[in-house]
Amino acid sequence: MKVTKVGIIGCGNISGAYLNCVKQFPNIEIAAVADINMEAAQAKAEEFEIKAVTVDEILADKEIEIIVNLTIPQAHASVNIQALNAGKHVHCEKPFAVTLEEGQEVLKLAKEKNLYVGCAPDTFLGGGIQTCRKLIDDNWIGKPISGTAFMMCPGHESWHPNPGFYYLNGGGPLFDMGPYYITALINLLGPIKRVCASTGKGFEKRVCTAESTNGTILPVETATHLTGILDFECGTVITMTMSFDVQKHFHKNIEIYGTEGSLVVPDPNGFGGEILLSTYKGDWKEMPYSHKFTDNARIFGVSDMADAIKNGRINRCSGELAYHVLEVMHAFQKSSDSGCHVNIESTCEQPEALSS
Ligand SMILES: NC(=O)c1ccc[n+]([C@@H]2O[C@H](COP(=O)([O-])OP(=O)(O)OC[C@H]3O[C@@H](n4cnc5c(N)ncnc54)[C@H](O)[C@@H]3O)[C@@H](O)[C@H]2O)c1
Repeated sequence: MKVTKVGIIGCGNISGAYLNCVKQFPNIEIAAVADINMEAAQAKAEEFEIKAVTVDEILADKEIEIIVNLTIPQAHASVNIQALNAGKHVHCEKPFAVTLEEGQEVLKLAKEKNLYVGCAPDTFLGGGIQTCRKLIDDNWIGKPISGTAFMMCPGHESWHPNPGFYYLNGGGPLFDMGPYYITALINLLGPIKRVCASTGKGFEKRVCTAESTNGTILPVETATHLTGILDFECGTVITMTMSFDVQKHFHKNIEIYGTEGSLVVPDPNGFGGEILLSTYKGDWKEMPYSHKFTDNARIFGVSDMADAIKNGRINRCSGELAYHVLEVMHAFQKSSDSGCHVNIESTCEQPEALSS
């Protein structure tokens, strides 16, 4: 089997998950890590026994075919562009970009250079959401009519060592967690036609309570609460709330209501989780997984990209999918500001379902 060499740029909080999970995917290997902060790169290199290099060196390494961009959202597009200009395929953390213009620039450059672009989340490739996709495709709940999606929490300043970016433009609950939910829903139902929303901000400042940052005050630039509606091309209507302003609640992450039954979809910020299904005559039943990868497998999307490059097919976590998600997120804010529904101009393929 061909093993594709991968280089990571961005050695912060999430990089450990990628470095740990790579051993589940024999078609890829992490050859080096880099960061603008060399100390961060060296710390990860020591922990995982790989080499740390500068960003310029990783981009110049001829053996590396894919760059995995794990920098902060505000740097995603510029690092993607650097990687593409160096002749590398690139898979980045979510969100795909902060602005639509940046996202378009990345897609255009990739097309010109005939290189692949991919983006997190890849959690929808996990056994939890893939099983739900199969249940919907196999008609267990009939035609999906409506549903709900809820991500509500008090924010990340109680645990994250560097949470400032979550409250700047490009952060907030929508840009942070929305990609998991919107991507999972597109995987289940296909592309989105139009949206509407109302957004708000519960607090003007946030106070850090994590040990390393305790007492630090963070300015809040972005909306921290959003309630919206997504109209899918297939006709399904989903109500969605994303919030950093909720202390506690009882809602399930995602529920889909069809003509013949209802489905409880597990947390799209994970690979497994409980799947519940009820036909209208029966009780809720926990459904067994039909697909593998039900534990953390962050980097699955990179393995899928390596396979897609080899076989000349579209990568499931494609740049087009990520751009469609980005446009939906911007359209939510536009709708809240204008008081009108907003049509979505981009579209994408519903990612091909995995076979097992
Ligand atoms: N932390 C999590 O639990 C988590 C989970 C899933 C996804 N993510 C996403 O992963 C990304 C990174 O999050 P994080 O929590 O690891 O952030 P972090 O701040 O801990 O780490 C980011 C790293 O990127 C480096 N960096 C920033 N700009 C750079 C540039 N231009 N070139 C090279 N290096 C650069 C920083 O020095 C830092 O080491 C974000 O987009 C976030 O949304 C984070």
